[in-house]
Amino acid sequence: MKIDILTLFPTMFEGFVNESIIHRAILKKAVEIHTINFRDFSKLNNKQVDDTPYGGGGGMVLRPEPLIDAIEKVKTKNSKVILLCPQGIPFKQEKAKELSHEKHLVFVCGHYEGFDERIRTFVDEEISIGDYILTGGELPAMVICDSIIRLLPGVIKNNSHENESFNNHLLDYPTYTKPQEYKGLRVPDVLISGDHKKIAQWRKTEQIKKTEAKRKDIL
Ligand SMILES: C[S@@+](CC[C@H](N)C(=O)[O-])C[C@H]1O[C@@H](n2cnc3c(N)ncnc32)[C@H](O)[C@@H]1O
Repeated sequence: MKIDILTLFPTMFEGFVNESIIHRAILKKAVEIHTINFRDFSKLNNKQVDDTPYGGGGGMVLRPEPLIDAIEKVKTKNSKVILLCPQGIPFKQEKAKELSHEKHLVFVCGHYEGFDERIRTFVDEEISIGDYILTGGELPAMVICDSIIRLLPGVIKNNSHENESFNNHLLDYPTYTKPQEYKGLRVPDVLISGDHKKIAQWRKTEQIKKTEAKRKDIL
């Protein structure tokens, strides 16, 4: 998969691409990530990319030309262009799975007060990561890319995905590791019984109990 991120702040992505699982995914060539500073597409002498809103009001608005020129430069017939926007569809695991099958994703990060409305004509989808306002689309782009990249073949062990929260409309089951007892808190006996049928049954029951208690809405 190839990912292009259109942003005014490419250095924000340095930690993201240079650490942990995402870094390993890049080294394994499961994904290629490029950041493109759309300021480079500004035709103004001072490389300005924003301006005051027509009709008045606070804040600066991203001008259409640098962003649209950048989109047109990177877009191919295999691309899906995604605008990060609090007004977009709320991001869920199902969407991460769907996007993990794409060949080329282009993320457009807004900033300041937002972007000129005409930019919407040049994107395929608008995605929000939640009902709150961030300063820019960079963190949402990282959140969405992270959730997609870990689903790509070979990036993490396949069985790690199977019982994860939100698969089959359930939350994950409780997990424990060594030591067997810590500050009087014991690992449930079933998990050290060696009886794999019982362990599977216990985990399923716990998944249902947890989901009912915490997230009835996804059951
Ligand atoms: C300050 S926000 C603009 C908010 C806009 N004025 C509004 O009220 O809808 C600047 C940029 O951050 C990004 N952004 C902020 N919150 C977001 C969210 N919850 N999900 C996705 N992108 C977000 C978008 O790219 C947005 O254009």
